[in-house]
Amino acid sequence: METQDTRPATADFGFARVAQDEKAPLVADVFRSVARRYDLMNDLMSMGGHRLWKDFLISRSAVRPGQQVLDVAAGTGDLTRRFADEVGERGRVVAIDINPEMLGLGRTRLVDGGVVGNVDYLIGDAENLPLRDRQFDCVCIAFGLRNVTRITSALESMASMLRPGGRLLVLEFSRPQADFLARCYDFYSFNVIPRLGKIVAGDEASYRYLVESIRRHPDPQTLKDMMQASGLDDVGYHNLSGGIVVLHCGFRY
Ligand SMILES: C[S@@+](CC[C@H](N)C(=O)[O-])C[C@H]1O[C@@H](n2cnc3c(N)ncnc32)[C@H](O)[C@@H]1O
Repeated sequence: METQDTRPATADFGFARVAQDEKAPLVADVFRSVARRYDLMNDLMSMGGHRLWKDFLISRSAVRPGQQVLDVAAGTGDLTRRFADEVGERGRVVAIDINPEMLGLGRTRLVDGGVVGNVDYLIGDAENLPLRDRQFDCVCIAFGLRNVTRITSALESMASMLRPGGRLLVLEFSRPQADFLARCYDFYSFNVIPRLGKIVAGDEASYRYLVESIRRHPDPQTLKDMMQASGLDDVGYHNLSGGIVVLHCGFRY
């Protein structure tokens, strides 16, 4: 006789397994806690590298003046600002994030920097984007996908936002391929980053989550397969900094 599995669905939260419903509130706690020190920590942890990875994403976006861009999990708005420059006055960028603290800091930062008029800010979940389908030339998610509970739902929701010919860009941490670099990276990740988080942001646990969540994120080939299964075509990826970060790109036709 077949028995039905009545256990609740689970998700990774770093190295822990939690009930699916518990993950989003736990992730929200992480970003609420680190929001104020988020930009400084990014510069320190990556030694400025995140700026180059984001510049590379912009170069691969091929976004032009007048276009519409959706920046999912926009956080403090690094990519929103870059895209706002690319699309110019006639274009539009929508910055969406589930966390009001992160997005609020981003908005203040951009407005203080004179970026006004072509950016809209929205609170929402990547898994169920509260926007009309097929209106964006480019959708991106940078360092956000490993934080969502159901990656497939997020990929499908983001793909549905694209106009025919539009592209989805996913920038995310991964693991270096070269053995020696991978060992150095592991040492740095598990020994230096949580301590830095404790000193700079007063929060070791959130930076331990960051390091662990990277290890639980799908490898580049698996993510490519997931993007294809979500209805995207011509999916490819670039390894950056020896594979520490990967940029995936896929199109909707
Ligand atoms: C590491 S930050 C990245 C911020 C920004 N994209 C960047 O590259 O600096 C991750 C962001 O994902 C957001 N986030 C987490 N889960 C989300 C979800 N389900 N939907 C939308 N945003 C989410 C967090 O609130 C946080 O602002």
